[in-house]
Amino acid sequence: MSGEARPATSDRDRSWTVLELLRWTTDYFKRAGIESARLDAELLLAHALESPRLRLYVDYEKPVLPDERDRFRQLVRSRAVDRVPVSILLGEREFWSLSFKVTRDVLTPRPDTETLVEAALSKLKGPGFGPADPGRRVRILDLGTGSGAIALALASELPDADLTASDLSQAALQIAAENADRLQQKERVRFLHGDLFEPVAGERFDLVVSNPPYVARRDEGKLPPELAHEPEMALFAGEDGLDVIRRLVAGAGAHLSPGGWLFVELSPEQAVTVEQQLTSAGFVDVERRFDLARRPRVVGGRWPGTGSG
Ligand SMILES: C[S@@+](CC[C@H](N)C(=O)[O-])C[C@H]1O[C@@H](n2cnc3c(N)ncnc32)[C@H](O)[C@@H]1O
Repeated sequence: MSGEARPATSDRDRSWTVLELLRWTTDYFKRAGIESARLDAELLLAHALESPRLRLYVDYEKPVLPDERDRFRQLVRSRAVDRVPVSILLGEREFWSLSFKVTRDVLTPRPDTETLVEAALSKLKGPGFGPADPGRRVRILDLGTGSGAIALALASELPDADLTASDLSQAALQIAAENADRLQQKERVRFLHGDLFEPVAGERFDLVVSNPPYVARRDEGKLPPELAHEPEMALFAGEDGLDVIRRLVAGAGAHLSPGGWLFVELSPEQAVTVEQQLTSAGFVDVERRFDLARRPRVVGGRWPGTGSG
């Protein structure tokens, strides 16, 4: 730890145990304004030691070797000084109990997005959902797939569905494809490149899900510094954050089977506006779903007709 990011020189030369390093780093992270200070310290130390996090509790009194400490020091500095998210430093993040590769080319999947997966599954596994032709497989589109988190979570739950995942970012699609490979779902998901529905022109789906960019440009100054390490294209959508959702809602009807559902993740204060947009676009049974903090996080609607829902 150098300057701010390391103990005083005399401390540097002595031997440090796992517990001492954790305590020092937690305190340092707290002073740097990092909320999940202890957890971040544990995750980064486990990464530097190349051991599972829970192993740290068994090894509290174990001295940390100089090489390991050097690796840890670099990680601590990046986290505290440059505010690089832990997921990027580790190169992975868990979502839906699956491990996803994460780089600066993709949005790190967030726990809030599990609300979207739950909403989709509740319809797909609910009574009466399915294509009008019972012999046809259910078709699902994940629009703006990023790391592939939503599509691959759904693939893991729905062995009989056909999944398509698209993104405007080629670099993100590359990571999504790697994740499909890692999770042994490569054959299950078709990855397509392009703007919104353009890569699926002429196709219809029983379910369209999307966690599109929805951060308002006008809020840029209020954002946590960690977001600077994620792709702009994954975050921002015009002055009010609704540029992409507006186009998505307007275009979705032409790509849904009769009775199919659209679910969109959004920022809680956008829920009422997007519900109105869905209704104006012709959707029925418009509903909202709440995240763990009980804020509206997902809104959805059914395309009229019978068949899918
Ligand atoms: C908020 S991220 C969501 C990533 C992932 N689905 C998740 O939930 O973790 C939004 C994604 O939409 C993509 N995107 C942005 N604008 C797009 C557009 N016009 N058409 C298709 N994808 C777009 C971004 O590249 C990014 O991967």
